[in-house]
Amino acid sequence: MLQIAPTDREALGGVSPVMRLDGITKTFPGVKALDGVSLALYPGQVTALVGENGAGKSTIVKVLTGIYRPDGGEMSVDGKPVQFAGAQDATAAGITAIHQETVLFDELTVAENIFIGHAPRGRFGLIDWAAMKARAAEILRRIDAPLDPMTPLRELGIANKHLVAIARALSVDARVVIMDEPTAALSQKEIEELYALVERLKAEGRAILFISHKFDEIFRIADRYTVFRDGSHVGSGLMADVDEATLVRMMVGRDVDQIFPKRAHVVGDEVLKVVGYAHPTEFDEINFDLKRGEILGFYGLVGAGRSELMQALFGITRPSKGAVRIDGNVRVIRSPAEAIANGIVYVPEDRGKQGAVIGLPIFQNVTLPSLGRTSRSGFLRLAEEFALARQYVERLDLRAAALDQDVGTLSGGNQQKVVIAKWLATKPRVIILDEPTKGIDIGSKAAVHAFMAELAAEGLAVIMVSSEIPEVLGMSDRVIVMREGLIVAEVSGDEMTPEVLVRHAAGIGGER
Ligand SMILES: Nc1ncnc2c1ncn2[C@@H]1O[C@H](COP(=O)(O)OP(=O)(O)OP(=O)(O)O)[C@@H](O)[C@H]1O
Ligand SMILES: [Mg+2]
Repeated sequence: MLQIAPTDREALGGVSPVMRLDGITKTFPGVKALDGVSLALYPGQVTALVGENGAGKSTIVKVLTGIYRPDGGEMSVDGKPVQFAGAQDATAAGITAIHQETVLFDELTVAENIFIGHAPRGRFGLIDWAAMKARAAEILRRIDAPLDPMTPLRELGIANKHLVAIARALSVDARVVIMDEPTAALSQKEIEELYALVERLKAEGRAILFISHKFDEIFRIADRYTVFRDGSHVGSGLMADVDEATLVRMMVGRDVDQIFPKRAHVVGDEVLKVVGYAHPTEFDEINFDLKRGEILGFYGLVGAGRSELMQALFGITRPSKGAVRIDGNVRVIRSPAEAIANGIVYVPEDRGKQGAVIGLPIFQNVTLPSLGRTSRSGFLRLAEEFALARQYVERLDLRAAALDQDVGTLSGGNQQKVVIAKWLATKPRVIILDEPTKGIDIGSKAAVHAFMAELAAEGLAVIMVSSEIPEVLGMSDRVIVMREGLIVAEVSGDEMTPEVLVRHAAGIGGER
């Protein structure tokens, strides 16, 4: 195992780390989440922490922020040893984090969420509401977030909630800012703003720890890297000294070719036809069909109406006009239950919220919606549930200690795989996957893609909403491009190129 090389320090101007962790271990029942890892964070620099799902990235963040106490190892700030008895201690030491699953409160306002636990107080120790509102507005301005501090959080979409989490992290004067997959929920424009914010934090001399599965952004914003694999420290160094292939090999322990599974173009019967679907505000004039065995990509910029359309097809919202035909018969879908009864399932983008049932073991999470298929007599059932769960879990490359492990103790990416497994296990006829590989590491991505291709070959019809062009082009038989709530193009064959997709999605040149 490589340790942090002393030459790193010399290479980036002889700065010493603000914060340093050495030999940190943390064990959970059945898992050694961290096995003697080291990490150093430098002022004015971004350190990227990379590793597969379950490698221990979020765990080290929780150690850094005082949420977990390590079982062993040392931490120091400015060269002085520190121990955090709780989150308050870490905050007092100037360490702040935007966690992967941010804990925010729907019932509170934006300002209250930003200042919860450290609200400005006036005379008699009472909360100074005016000051809180003013300071919240100031922080929101600083990150260019177009939000009113007094808006109740529940009225915000997922991206805006994320901005509140960022504002919260910046509400303390931090020396170390940790971001655990901060861009996963953001649109392209918001991502650019976040990068600008990172630049500003760097210029202010703060040390930044940045966790991401997206290599393009790591190479764009990070100065240094640290790689974890299975709870161990694999290596650290300067971004300038590595290329993507090297970093991937350190992460996964092997080469990962980004080649998509070869698929024969299938011409099955039509299973789904959407005719004249419309929604008062989100989309209009939606017409398309889907065949058995087909993977139909939906590309567009965030906000193009793709997720809203899919939610309507799954019965979460109601269209104002239009019809769906399933196997040629007109069907009305007024609720998710009716969609499922018709063989249509939807795996949402926001899988954290709408997905896994925390507190239940993995196998029950997977079999929950398909219980009808496994239940016969009590005895048989448990074995069958396990067998069913195992089949899906293995094919999606899910990393867990055991199938009866609580889903809540899985890493973020592995929780997402559970949600995908759960819907696939219902053996739907049509599956709608919204950003299926978001938050999933580069090695597991290939497993998810291969599984999608296999299921399609068995006759499953797949709608894949994705903002990743290589994924859309690599997996789809046809691609529908949406912009501002309308279908603006349908491309297939030779027309399926990045330029064509981007041009249609952005509305540059050509017809509308
Ligand atoms: N509270 C817990 N109880 C039991 N096991 C846990 C707990 N928290 C984390 N783990 C385990 O520790 C390991 C590391 O998880 P961690 O969340 O740190 O991974 P990660 O690198 O952040 O992955 P991802 O990219 O999926 O977010 C995993 O095997 C996970 O299941
Ligand atoms: Mg994580």
